[in-house]
Amino acid sequence: MAGPQLPHVGSQFYSTFKEIVSLSRYVFRNEKSPQFVFTGPGTIGMESSVVSLVSHGDRTLTLVSGYFGRRMLMLNQVHGAKADVLEYKDGVHADPDDLRKKLRQNKYKAVFLTHVDTSTSVVNPVKELVEECVKADVFSVVDGVCSIGGVPLDFDKLGSDIAFTASQKALAGAPGAVLIAASQRVLDYMAKREKPIESYYMNLLRWKPVMEDPRMYLATPATQVLLALREALLEVKEEGLEKRWARHRRLGELARNQVEKWGFKFVADEGFRSDTVTAFWVKEGTAGDIQKTLETKYRIVVARGIYEAKDTMIRIGHFGILKPSRLTSALNSMGEVLDELGMRKGRPKTAARP
Ligand SMILES: Cc1ncc(COP(=O)(O)O)c(C=O)c1O
Repeated sequence: MAGPQLPHVGSQFYSTFKEIVSLSRYVFRNEKSPQFVFTGPGTIGMESSVVSLVSHGDRTLTLVSGYFGRRMLMLNQVHGAKADVLEYKDGVHADPDDLRKKLRQNKYKAVFLTHVDTSTSVVNPVKELVEECVKADVFSVVDGVCSIGGVPLDFDKLGSDIAFTASQKALAGAPGAVLIAASQRVLDYMAKREKPIESYYMNLLRWKPVMEDPRMYLATPATQVLLALREALLEVKEEGLEKRWARHRRLGELARNQVEKWGFKFVADEGFRSDTVTAFWVKEGTAGDIQKTLETKYRIVVARGIYEAKDTMIRIGHFGILKPSRLTSALNSMGEVLDELGMRKGRPKTAARP
């Protein structure tokens, strides 16, 4: 990224871009279906999926197991869907039986689900959920921003119509690019929609020819972000997806074992805790102190909860190129901070929420 700016109309960019699209196919395990990469945050992946698929008045269903599910619901509302919701308490995964019942009650245009909701660390049973959508012949959209590259997701086998991620999480690129896989059937549907897609930049149909020939101009890409993405994707390929998933499993185990030893209560139910992020409840009002002390003393950054959970939840992100030994050392430092703040290991203060 620090090198000379790469012009987007030069042959070097064209060949680099083609390589990026091909590498992102590897990460999604998408050999058969159209693949997209363009610049913008993960939110552009969410909104492109909604606006390209949903027309005003369409009935959709969003499964909510945290903040990002709620965001997806909001995007459906913003774009005029009759947006139904299956909402779960923080920490509870979406249940395929509930989905089946909903799909029997109503005919939906699409179901939107979050693979890993970063706000709660819940990993949803994506395979079973998508299976229900396939059986009911409903389009399904998977937000894989906190999963793809860290937690197994095989687009070709999964059968969902859209899955997307962003460059900055488990792929460990710089923020600013979205990667989307979309089935041919969903693109065919978009092409024959009665009402045209109400977006220029977030219209997947417009991006399709650019993916095939990056010489076509739609908007100027953030070339340096894409160069960084290329490096990140090459690293994924060099490590190998299976090995990367295994390393993330190890990271998840390390984080969970430590949090358990500290005695805090996990946000996500057992069996549904992601290997990319670990969230736990802390005593009301202490999350800020833990975060601040850890950053000031050790230059280690953890996240607090989002919005109403900002004072009661800590989230440790453990994805990307993080090595287990580095996580262990960060967890040790965190233990020191908890000691210092009087939340001693093994003798924690009680969790703020049941
Ligand atoms: C699950 C999930 N979806 C969507 C997003 C939105 O991505 P961005 O912040 O890059 O717009 C995030 C961001 O953290 C996320 O974790």
